[in-house]
Amino acid sequence: MDLEQQLAKMREDWDARARENAKHYVQTAQTDWTDEEFYASGEQTVKEEIRTDMINICQGKDPKEMRVLEIGCGAGRVTRALANLFGEVYAVDVSGEMIAQAKKGLENHPNAHVFQNNGKDLSVLPELGYDFAFSTIVFQHIPSKEVIETYVREVSRLLKPGALFKFQVQGFTGMQATPDDTWLGVSYSDEQAKELGERCGFEPRHRHGAGEQYFWLWFFKR
Ligand SMILES: C[S@@+](CC[C@H](N)C(=O)[O-])C[C@H]1O[C@@H](n2cnc3c(N)ncnc32)[C@H](O)[C@@H]1O
Repeated sequence: MDLEQQLAKMREDWDARARENAKHYVQTAQTDWTDEEFYASGEQTVKEEIRTDMINICQGKDPKEMRVLEIGCGAGRVTRALANLFGEVYAVDVSGEMIAQAKKGLENHPNAHVFQNNGKDLSVLPELGYDFAFSTIVFQHIPSKEVIETYVREVSRLLKPGALFKFQVQGFTGMQATPDDTWLGVSYSDEQAKELGERCGFEPRHRHGAGEQYFWLWFFKR
């Protein structure tokens, strides 16, 4: 399976999941989410991963003056909470079906801009200079290190110097991803994650959760 076939498979599989039950596949904790519960869970993610970490994320800036970037926004669960906190949010997702649902959920958030992308880079986004980038429960589903590394380089291209890319990868190395399975992504050891950051123009300053599903990385743009 070559890269183009793999990207098409990601788009098709995530479109199908979005048509079947987008909110469930985005956050599998529940099967039947009400809108209220679904967006509250996004606020909870932002509370746990962002509001507790404002020193690294904002570095003294007023959040309302910050432009942030999100990879794999799905139906806009976290995107809406990001838009409530930050000045402008730019988000991408490989699935047009997910993006359609995100647009609906973000109708009252004119500072959130969502785009369907090609599943591997950020060429669809304006080159504005971003103050922070975030991604959660996305790379754990991507079965290709080439794709993940392309995203990390792309974030490095778009972030302002010193800014943080905080994101989660699969850290449990006991299961092997296969190229055509778009649910189980590739995993990273601590050393591999560190090398990834260094290769792509970041200082991989903090890492938390090596060996676990929720392996969080704090990459600061050099
Ligand atoms: C489990 S959902 C999480 C969505 C969102 N991050 C959240 O926490 O609510 C995973 C999302 O990643 C997207 N995705 C999967 N592979 C992708 C890729 N290669 N590029 C961009 N988005 C991708 C899927 O379409 C899906 O919307």
